[in-house]
Amino acid sequence: MSISSPSITDLLSLTGRTAIVTGGAMGIGRGIVERLAEAGASVVIADADLEAAETAAKELVEHGRSALAMYVDVGDADEVHRLVADTIGWRGRVDILVNNAGIFPNVPVLDMTPDDFDRVLRTNLRGVYLCSREAALRMRQQETGGRIINVTSIDALHPSSVGLAHYDASKHGVWGFTKNLALELAPHGIWVNAIAPGAIATPGVTAMQATGSGVDMKAVLKAFLAQVPMRRMGAPDDIARTALFLASDLASYITGAQIVVDGGRLLA
Ligand SMILES: NC(=O)c1ccc[n+]([C@@H]2O[C@H](COP(=O)([O-])OP(=O)(O)OC[C@H]3O[C@@H](n4cnc5c(N)ncnc54)[C@H](O)[C@@H]3O)[C@@H](O)[C@H]2O)c1
Repeated sequence: MSISSPSITDLLSLTGRTAIVTGGAMGIGRGIVERLAEAGASVVIADADLEAAETAAKELVEHGRSALAMYVDVGDADEVHRLVADTIGWRGRVDILVNNAGIFPNVPVLDMTPDDFDRVLRTNLRGVYLCSREAALRMRQQETGGRIINVTSIDALHPSSVGLAHYDASKHGVWGFTKNLALELAPHGIWVNAIAPGAIATPGVTAMQATGSGVDMKAVLKAFLAQVPMRRMGAPDDIARTALFLASDLASYITGAQIVVDGGRLLA
């Protein structure tokens, strides 16, 4: 028997590290916050819904975790600058950034206004650029490396539904951005990866089904699920487990990768 070192427990531990999770108040982001905090990280729950972020932080702190809510609109450069500065003010460092905040309003291109298009690109793509840049500047200065994890979508590779052309453009963009940034930041010990979820049960998906966008989202989702080999929607924790892996020392030699977490949907 060989004795491996470091141990699996040590490889998974995030003790002493500080993470920012955008869109961390609910859904996939909330799941990621919980796993990173469980692994020992101090986690900033950075969200445009401050009330929901504060509720999430309170629950985590009550369970003995280290978490703090902060308001941010990821598309606003000044707010993103302040988010990273306040994180440094709280724990003195930032080691992990999870770019998770994203919106997915469903609207066919022929009904899509320029504002509809810009709004999705602003949050989903510009937001990833702004947060990554601010966090990476700090990580480079710290000289202890870091991790940037971008939550893309299977729509970064293949469309899942009509009505998401602006969304698909944004997520393809994030995947391209991920690969180039990984090249640029590797010399600084900062690994940049993406997670591409399939259909995950979140408040955002529930809201999308309820909107009258001209696309029957209930029917779209039913048809989508019929093509998932695992025959279920994903849970936020399915994505959170992958995020924990990428944030941890288990992922010591991975950068510029995109892990598809979709129950096999892209195979179908
Ligand atoms: N749920 C899915 O099926 C699915 C599939 C593939 C990819 N994704 C991606 O996963 C991410 C999270 O999705 P979800 O389903 O958990 O969404 P959700 O709507 O349930 O939660 C999103 C969170 O992001 C926050 N947010 C939105 N805009 C923001 C902004 N400008 N600045 C800061 N915070 C903002 C919201 O307040 C909310 O707390 C998104 O990037 C989404 O594109 C989701």
